[in-house]
Amino acid sequence: MSDKSIMKVTSILGSPSLRSRSGALLQLAQSRLQPHATTAEAITVRDLPGQALLQAEFANTEIQAAIRKVLEAQVILVATPIYKAAYSGLLKSFLDLLPQDGLRDKTVLPLATGGSAAHLLALDYALKPVLSALGARDILDAVYASDAQIPTVEGRYEVDAEIGTRVDQSLRSVIERASQYRAETEAARERDAVLARARGTPQPPWLGHSVRWAV
Ligand SMILES: Cc1cc2nc3c(=O)[nH]c(=O)nc-3n(C[C@H](O)[C@H](O)[C@H](O)COP(=O)(O)O)c2cc1C
Repeated sequence: MSDKSIMKVTSILGSPSLRSRSGALLQLAQSRLQPHATTAEAITVRDLPGQALLQAEFANTEIQAAIRKVLEAQVILVATPIYKAAYSGLLKSFLDLLPQDGLRDKTVLPLATGGSAAHLLALDYALKPVLSALGARDILDAVYASDAQIPTVEGRYEVDAEIGTRVDQSLRSVIERASQYRAETEAARERDAVLARARGTPQPPWLGHSVRWAV
């Protein structure tokens, strides 16, 4: 991952449901990265044109725009519900449209929700191999939540604190790199400002002439 643009984040939501637990988990991860992100883009696959997805219409402008959001990002958050012991077919329909190396040099955080913990390993045996095949080498610790860990509170899904902590742990390395980059950028800006001020001050007279040193 290139340090300079570490803070471009794109999220991909692979749930077909409008009201979505994996969407709530994704939102939580996005909110944790938000203060560090220079850009934050979101792809909700269910909002992309269905026919274009199913018929792999690479020329479709909405599909192209979504692919661009992936290619331009440095950090990708991928969220999916577990369907039939794997990630959703909707997510696959979008991942299939990415170029073969579409996730190379990106940091990827896989997120999933399932009815129970029984299919926790689906991330390892199903999703991660696909992310690797797309070139991702920096895959952060995946976060899996069961439905019971994302209960409805006052009509909205609320991710429980333990899952929030796991998201924080998974994102720690990205946030540390982002903070380090910001600190370095600020130090460089201050140094440039000092140099510019120094250049602006009148030179001592002896610096204006060539000086012949006696040896
Ligand atoms: C068609 C379908 C298949 C599912 N298959 C599984 C499964 O194999 N294992 C599991 O743990 N949960 C399964 N679930 C439950 C969902 O994964 C779970 O409710 C998830 O949180 C839904 O996420 P969403 O609200 O973002 O769509 C299934 C749900 C549906 C609708």
